[in-house]
Amino acid sequence: MEIERTIPPLRQRLRAWRSSGDRIALVPTMGNLHAGHLALVERARELADRVVVSLFVNPTQFGAGEDFSSYPRTFQQDVESLTQAETDLLFAPEVKTLYPGGADGGSYVEVPQLSEVLCGASRPGHFRGVATVVCKLFNVVQPEIALFGEKDYQQLLVIRRMTRDLCFPIEIVGVPTVRDDDGLALSSRNAYLTEEQRRKAPLLYRLLTRCRERILAGERDYAALGEEARQELRAGGFEPDYFEIRNAADLTVPDPAERRLVILAAARLGRARLIDNVTLSL
Ligand code: PAJ
Repeated sequence: MEIERTIPPLRQRLRAWRSSGDRIALVPTMGNLHAGHLALVERARELADRVVVSLFVNPTQFGAGEDFSSYPRTFQQDVESLTQAETDLLFAPEVKTLYPGGADGGSYVEVPQLSEVLCGASRPGHFRGVATVVCKLFNVVQPEIALFGEKDYQQLLVIRRMTRDLCFPIEIVGVPTVRDDDGLALSSRNAYLTEEQRRKAPLLYRLLTRCRERILAGERDYAALGEEARQELRAGGFEPDYFEIRNAADLTVPDPAERRLVILAAARLGRARLIDNVTLSL
């Protein structure tokens, strides 16, 4: 696996691949890789000739007081996992490479509406930071396809919309959430959980799947279902941020006739903010 830290040698390598007709996939990450990230790399291997992974802890998507400085950084371990997963190239830039004018005050990309609800409401500016860095990575790498996890469902929708609105000729592929045996979605932030909190953590996914079953069984009072789940989260030691049933296409509040739904939840457990979701079709 090649490792590049700056744009010119990366572009040179990509040009060579492209001129021999190779189809290039991009998997953006913030590192501290686990089996969820590696599922994206594996899917990328199936869909493209060359797989580029980016590893960049993006300062602009962290709010003041969030975990930017303490976010787990495990570069050497990540290089080993990516080598094993047959990644062709790792792009691991410094902040000044992607933000030549500094992380504050530069040009940015904003995806309205979708970025303002749910996680966007509790983390103002978060999706602007995500859209901006992904836009930069798309411009630098110019992949044919880019892969994102369904675990970050709202992020996936924001990126799909940005790709459409800004006319990027890039196919966005969503990859199903990889979970531990007890259902907890794999996440770098699970490392913040104590042993006791880790035992409590699967409740989030259990409530999501139970809510899905109840809707499939005919329940339609989505506000009441959400409120009940938030209470159960509180009883289980979580501080819920939201537990919402939304239109799967645009995250608006669904009317009872809506057929494609997503149930999304975010809740704090100790130092970790966990998010998860399940989709359903009626
Ligand atoms: P990060 O949290 O490192 O996640 C990188 C990619 O892995 C995202 O597309 C995310 O949805 C996916 N992923 C994480 N956990 C997963 C799991 N359990 N199953 C399947 N996929 C999973 O998301 C980001 O980084 C950043 O916001 C980024 C898009 C890189 C922009 O900075």
